[in-house]
Amino acid sequence: MSEIRLHGRVAIVTGAGGGLGRSHALALARCGASVVVNDIGGGVEGRGTSDAADKVVADIIAASGRAVANYASVATRAGGQAIVDQAIDRFGRVDIVVANAGIQRNDRYEDFAEQDMHDMLDVHLEGSFWVTQAAYQFMKEARYGRVVFTTSGAGLYGRPNSPGYVAAKNGIVGLMNALAIEGQPFGVLANAIAPFARTRMTDPVFDEDQARRNPPEFVSDLVVYLSSQQCSMTHEVIQAGFGRYARVFVGRTVGWTPGPGDGGGPEAIAAHIDEILDSSQFVVPKNAFDDLKDMASP
Ligand code: NAI
Repeated sequence: MSEIRLHGRVAIVTGAGGGLGRSHALALARCGASVVVNDIGGGVEGRGTSDAADKVVADIIAASGRAVANYASVATRAGGQAIVDQAIDRFGRVDIVVANAGIQRNDRYEDFAEQDMHDMLDVHLEGSFWVTQAAYQFMKEARYGRVVFTTSGAGLYGRPNSPGYVAAKNGIVGLMNALAIEGQPFGVLANAIAPFARTRMTDPVFDEDQARRNPPEFVSDLVVYLSSQQCSMTHEVIQAGFGRYARVFVGRTVGWTPGPGDGGGPEAIAAHIDEILDSSQFVVPKNAFDDLKDMASP
C-alpha cells in the first residue's frame, strides 16, 4: 500500500466548521493538503453564524498544517465563486472540492414550507453545484481535479418527514453523474459519499451504540482516498458507516418485453409486473447513451 500524500494540493471543504466537514479538513491537512475551511457557522437548521471555521483552522495550524477560513454561504453562485477565489488567492490553485455543507429541516410532506424547500435546494444542491462549477474552470485547465459530493441514505433510499432533504440529496447524485461524465476527459474525477457519522445532525437519531460505531474519521478516510491521485475511479457512490465501505449503484432489471402472442396494454403490464420488477438480473449502465444502446438491443 502506498502512502496517500496530498502535499502541494489545495482542497476546499464546505461546511467544515464542525461534524464531518471538520474531520475531512483535518484529515486532508494531515496528508499535506492546504485547506480552505468554509463554514457559515450556523445551527443544524442553517440559521445564524459563528466563528466555527476559525477554530478548525487553528486546530490545523496547531498540527503544522496549512489552512484558511472562509465564511461565505455555499447557497449562492457568488458564495461558491468567493470560496474558490480565496483558494486561488491564498494557495494559488484548487485540486480538491469536498462539497459537504448541509442543513436539516424536518416536516411532513404536506406541511413542508416553501422557504424550507428553497433553502434545502440552495444549500445542498446549489451549494454543491456552484462551488464545484467555479473550481471546475480551474481544474479543467489544469487537467486534474477530485470532487467528492455528499449524498445520504435518505436521498438514495428515501425517508419520511424530510422531503426537501431527500429530494436535494438525490439531486446531488444527479449532479455527480453530470460532472463525472463531463470531467473525465480532463482528469477531473467526481464521486459521492453517503456517510453515517455521529455529529450534531445525527445526535437526535443515533442511539449510544450507533454513535459509538460511527466516528466521522472513518468517513474521512474515504474522502482522503477519493481526493487523492491514487483514486482513478469516477462516477461512483460509496456508502460509509458502521465499519463498512460499500458501492451503491443504479441498475436496470432485464424486465419484460412483450412477444407477438402476449398482447399489450395496461392489463398485460399488470400481468407481468413481477417480471418487470425482478432484480435477480440487472445491468448498470455507464451513462444515458450506454443505457439507450442497451435498451434498444433485443
Ligand atoms: P453538521 O451540521 O455538523 O455539519 C454541517 C455543516 O455545514 C455545519 O458546520 C454548517 O454550519 C455548515 N453549513 C450549513 N449551511 C451552510 C452554508 N450555506 N454555507 C456553508 N456552510 C454551511 O452535520 P454533518 O453530520 O457533519 O453533515 C455533513 C454533511 O453530511 C451534510 O451534507 C449532511 O447532510 C451529510 N450527511 C450526514 C450524515 C451523518 O450521519 N452525519 C448522514 C448522511 C448525510
